[in-house]
Amino acid sequence: MPSEPKILINEHDISRAVGRLAAEIRRDYKNKNPLLIGILKGSFIFMADLTRKIDMPLEVDFVRLSSYGSGTESSGKIRVLTRLQEPVKGRHVLLVEDIIDTGLTTAFFIDYLRKKRPASVRLCALTEKPARRKTDIEINYLGFQVPDKFIVGYGIDWDEKYRYLPDIRYIE
Ligand code: PRP
Repeated sequence: MPSEPKILINEHDISRAVGRLAAEIRRDYKNKNPLLIGILKGSFIFMADLTRKIDMPLEVDFVRLSSYGSGTESSGKIRVLTRLQEPVKGRHVLLVEDIIDTGLTTAFFIDYLRKKRPASVRLCALTEKPARRKTDIEINYLGFQVPDKFIVGYGIDWDEKYRYLPDIRYIE
């Protein structure tokens, strides 16, 4: 078992960052009725807070992908576990992620989406770990860069634990 997670980003700072991202998204997607796609499970809290703060007409969908097992390293093998419910063709799609680590999960899913011919695809991530990146995907809306530590809370797990934490913490 790791030691107790220590706070990295508190609730107040998360809320401010989500508000800033929501304002940017509202400005860029005005009258576009965007389709926000959350990548489960980690994005569920961020998606809920972000959509309420965007506060304009939009639609949501979710997808489950596999990439990590119960450990802390990406296996690099990604599969679509639950498919999208909403048609993507012609839509302005905004992917919503809790964390971009290597970027392999998101790069895979952007390729998968582009084959469905959306009008546009952009990426919104609450956090990214620049030290771990293996792909050059562009993050169009970013909350925080985080250090190369194991991050939990606000939807992000360690072996399915800690998702419920209201802030972002790290495990040593
Ligand atoms: C996490 C996170 C991203 C992915 C990022 O998901 O939510 O989807 O890993 O890692 P990468 O940039 O190295 O691909 P995870 O596979 O742990 O599943 P979960 O969201 O269900 O916790």
